[in-house]
Amino acid sequence: MMDIEFVRSRFIKHFDGKTGNVYASPGRINLIGEHTDYNGGFVFPGAVDKGIMAEMRANGTEDTVMAYAIDLKDRVDFHLNDPAGPRASWARYIYGIAKEMQKLGVPVKGFNIAFAGDVPLGAGMSSSAAMESCFACGLNDIFGENKVSQWDMVLAGQATEHNYCGVNCGIMDQFASVFGKAGCLMRLDCRSREFEYFPFKPDGYRLVLLDSVVKHELAGSPYNDRRNSCENVVKHIAAKHPEGKFETLRDCTWEQLDEVRAEVGEEDYKRAHFVLGEKDRVLAVCDALIAGDYETVGQKMYETHYGLSKEYEVSCEELDFLNDIAKENGVTGSRIMGGGFGGCTINLVRADLYDKFIADAKQKFAAKYGHEPKVYDVVIGDGSRKLC
Ligand code: GLA
Repeated sequence: MMDIEFVRSRFIKHFDGKTGNVYASPGRINLIGEHTDYNGGFVFPGAVDKGIMAEMRANGTEDTVMAYAIDLKDRVDFHLNDPAGPRASWARYIYGIAKEMQKLGVPVKGFNIAFAGDVPLGAGMSSSAAMESCFACGLNDIFGENKVSQWDMVLAGQATEHNYCGVNCGIMDQFASVFGKAGCLMRLDCRSREFEYFPFKPDGYRLVLLDSVVKHELAGSPYNDRRNSCENVVKHIAAKHPEGKFETLRDCTWEQLDEVRAEVGEEDYKRAHFVLGEKDRVLAVCDALIAGDYETVGQKMYETHYGLSKEYEVSCEELDFLNDIAKENGVTGSRIMGGGFGGCTINLVRADLYDKFIADAKQKFAAKYGHEPKVYDVVIGDGSRKLC
């Protein structure tokens, strides 16, 4: 995590010299369960030790927000009552979450904010959810007497993506950022919102991310198309079975999917086929983790990669290449992590193979693409919190 003094010095310099409160929220990893959240399925994320840190302070105005993005050296001022909101994409997260917190009854007024991050942007580690939950945590504290529940902050973050940023995402990222706990992964049932903490200490193994540095941009993108495909399949299944209740693919069986195959077409069929498989894989991974069977965990990760690449089609050449290198090096499990279209692979690797794998991946990737992948060792950290 970053240094509070770093953020504080910028806050003091860019505004009126006064200090505020400092809040932090993490990015996330996800062991397995990809594109299942908006399909009512299961996910298995954990917060990481990298994220967003913000200093915030009410500035006494009715609705003027003065915002400074430290890493971008960019300053934007805007009014909460301006229905259009700011143009800069980073500032829209601040505007959006403020509006969503107001909807939850928090009397948000004007404030100053400076923030910085050490979670890599566009790497599939949810830098945007880290921003939303960090700002929500601050607004709840400064204006809302901390009355808004953690779940409502999760949903406010998700609504910010939907209403102000153009991404129809699920709840995994915001959930992980708010509820994360050091040393624990969390299994979340996205339909019932029940979850449990899973201490994660795979003896003799390490979790490492390899960042292809291919930028991933979800806004207005194929991400929403994937979601539409899934919803289309549900609609067709529901129409065939008026007696049943079909809200998401979670409610659908393999047989029902096969029944509508011809009507929905091969593309939507493949998308839904991946999602049904992924739902089962998360549960299999939970059982395997309880049994300490990391070989099965790893095998499921490879299956997920295959499905994301060939059925869901959210991989890219660079990520498939990293996955192949993992296989060649005897890595236990490897797959694309997050929404896809670039970003990272997550790798479960035996400690004794780690050095060789990383060296080989760097060398081969650089030889092919002209730059090395970035390497992030995963440390599972805490969720959103006030630092001072
Ligand atoms: C992005 C979204 C999440 C989830 C993942 C894929 O990170 O924000 O809601 O759908 O993609 O699992």
